[in-house]
Amino acid sequence: ATGSVPERPALLRTRRLTHARLTDDSLLPPTDRLTCIGPSWVTLIVGVLAVVGAQWGDEGKGKITDWLAADVGTVVRGQGGSNAGHTVVIDGVSHKLHLLPSGILRSEVLAIAGAGMVIDPEQLLAELEQLGDSRGKLLISERAHVVMPYHRLLDGAEERAKEGGAAGTTGKGIGPAYGDRATRFGIRMGDLLEPQTLRERLERVVPRTQALLDYYGTGDRLELEQLYDLAAGWGRTLKGCIGNASLAIAERLDRGVLLEGAQGVHIDIDHGIYPFVTSSSPTPAGMAQGAGIAPGLIDRVVGVTKAYVTRVGTGPFPTELEDATGEHMRDVGGEFGTTTGRPRRCGWLDMVMLEHSQRICGFSELAITKLDVLGGLDKIRVCTAYETPHGRLEHFPASMTLLAECTPIYETLAGWPALSPAEWQAAAAVDSLPVEVNDFITFLTSRLGVPAGLLSFGPDREATLRLR
Ligand code: GDP
Ligand code: IMO
Ligand code: MG
Repeated sequence: ATGSVPERPALLRTRRLTHARLTDDSLLPPTDRLTCIGPSWVTLIVGVLAVVGAQWGDEGKGKITDWLAADVGTVVRGQGGSNAGHTVVIDGVSHKLHLLPSGILRSEVLAIAGAGMVIDPEQLLAELEQLGDSRGKLLISERAHVVMPYHRLLDGAEERAKEGGAAGTTGKGIGPAYGDRATRFGIRMGDLLEPQTLRERLERVVPRTQALLDYYGTGDRLELEQLYDLAAGWGRTLKGCIGNASLAIAERLDRGVLLEGAQGVHIDIDHGIYPFVTSSSPTPAGMAQGAGIAPGLIDRVVGVTKAYVTRVGTGPFPTELEDATGEHMRDVGGEFGTTTGRPRRCGWLDMVMLEHSQRICGFSELAITKLDVLGGLDKIRVCTAYETPHGRLEHFPASMTLLAECTPIYETLAGWPALSPAEWQAAAAVDSLPVEVNDFITFLTSRLGVPAGLLSFGPDREATLRLR
């Protein structure tokens, strides 16, 4: 099957069929797009695909990444840091990843942490340890920035200083680390391997950071020598896995590359609910930039969305439910932060949010997760526009004052029964999902103009259905 695709030099190739599992030749499509599934199924995987959070994060990107990673040789994180919490459940065993790309759980995959990431080596080493030291399967960009202990101190101090305006950060030092990167006070992973450079960088940044901590009155004292010893030690331990990530990705394009998004479009630094956002760009553009891959090489963009919405952190949330239905979502969906354990705020699916995400990301397909969680609810509501004191709003606003004034306009759909994981699996196997689920998916996909490629009805790897 791969022979039917004309060969071009690797770096010029923009669309490429890397892998075909074929049971019926007649189903082979004229292009290399995702095609179909059924008991006899065909999967065509294109060169580069991006898995993007379409909401406020925690959509199930880890699970979807792990599932799609079966068909690629490389999984890359291009942005974010240990603020991410990606859960992958394999045969009932739950793996929680913060810095390591989820692909690391697949034996044949090389996991790459790209230049756009901010990496806390302490956290990274702890995660590697948990997986039985997977250093051999990991490449970290020499250009990625280091999250130093003082970034965490600053994160806490700045959040406290903002009081009501705080974003409710994860406290992992993400904003201060990206801040140092932007103001060119940052330390890069490659600097850990050059003692002289590392010392010079620290001599520049430590007095400035101390002054900031003093300004916030935290009482913390930074010791340059201690920080130097710590960072140089990280360098010695991680030396073998720090290198040129962009080049490694380019060399592995023909085996398929998956860009694993962290966070979600609505906490993007540019397009999210500023200032309640994270400090990177969890969009395909941001992920390509952070990975060091030409954006035009991305073939498929999988937008991951829950069948409802959750938010961990502060800021306006138009469809938020502070009632029994919201409780149902939190309890049945286990909606507690993977990184911080905080209860997630829950609400109905919001198409205004998704339209904003689709415009910025250009999803080629959706992965709709947590369908099982809505099972047993009488009615399902979907927000299609906002009512405001200034009139009806079809598009997500930039102003947080306006967003706080938005009242959702809902369409009501029929609910579907609560099914056990085995019942979902059985229904999926014979293509007989409850009719109400079909109606919900059709409503969502036709409104958005994006097909559903994957449905998820449980945390486990197996609880996933690929659609025609
Ligand atoms: P991520 O940050 O986007 O990777 O998502 P998280 O891992 O933070 O949160 C998603 C949570 O939902 C995890 O606990 C997953 O195991 C779980 N999950 C993913 N998909 C489904 C699904 O379809 N149904 C249920 N019930 N849980 C799911
Ligand atoms: P994954 O990859 C959900 C939120 C925080 C806070 C804001 C800024 O698991 O989907 P930060 O620590 O980044 O400076 O916090 O962003 N946030 C997330 N929310 N999922 C995430 O990652 C998040 N990463 C950051 O709660 O409101
Ligand atoms: Mg998460």
